Amino acid sequence: MKTVITYGTFDLYHVGHVRLLSRLRELGDRLVVGCSTDEFNSRKGKRSVMPYEQRVEILRACRYVDDVFPENNWEQKRGDILREKADIFAMGDDWLGKFNDLSDIVEVVYLPRTKDISTTEVRQLVKALHRDKINQVRSAVSHLASLVDNL
Ligand code: CTP
Repeated sequence: MKTVITYGTFDLYHVGHVRLLSRLRELGDRLVVGCSTDEFNSRKGKRSVMPYEQRVEILRACRYVDDVFPENNWEQKRGDILREKADIFAMGDDWLGKFNDLSDIVEVVYLPRTKDISTTEVRQLVKALHRDKINQVRSAVSHLASLVDNL
């Protein structure tokens, strides 16, 4: 039984997350995910759209994920790897080289990220759509106002 361990926030679950988890699962027989808590994210200066409980629920519903546990701090990884008896520690390559110090107890792997998608980009897209909608409503209101003026 080969266990793979990974970490992340997995906010606004998107296809980049799905593809990463699918490829991670293919590396072994069991995939466990450390999901960053809201408190840990706020210490990192990040705020997710979805609360921790919902991000965990979505991860647990993913067919590639066997178990999810909370990621509360930067220091817990060694303990998690030993507890889960992980053989492979894997992350997307935005983390390339960052966890090489763990290679004394686990095989460290970095997988290429899916291009052109991230939680940040989804957030920006939603914001832009929202701005477009507001502009459409504004121009409709000013058009109506000019119609009323001409009555
Ligand atoms: N990931 C990936 N491909 C993407 C986006 C994310 O493989 N297009 C991977 C990351 O490399 C990480 C995991 O998914 O190993 C969880 O990433 P997370 O930081 O939660 O998602 P991002 O979309 O990268 O979020 P952000 O924009 O906030 O950095």
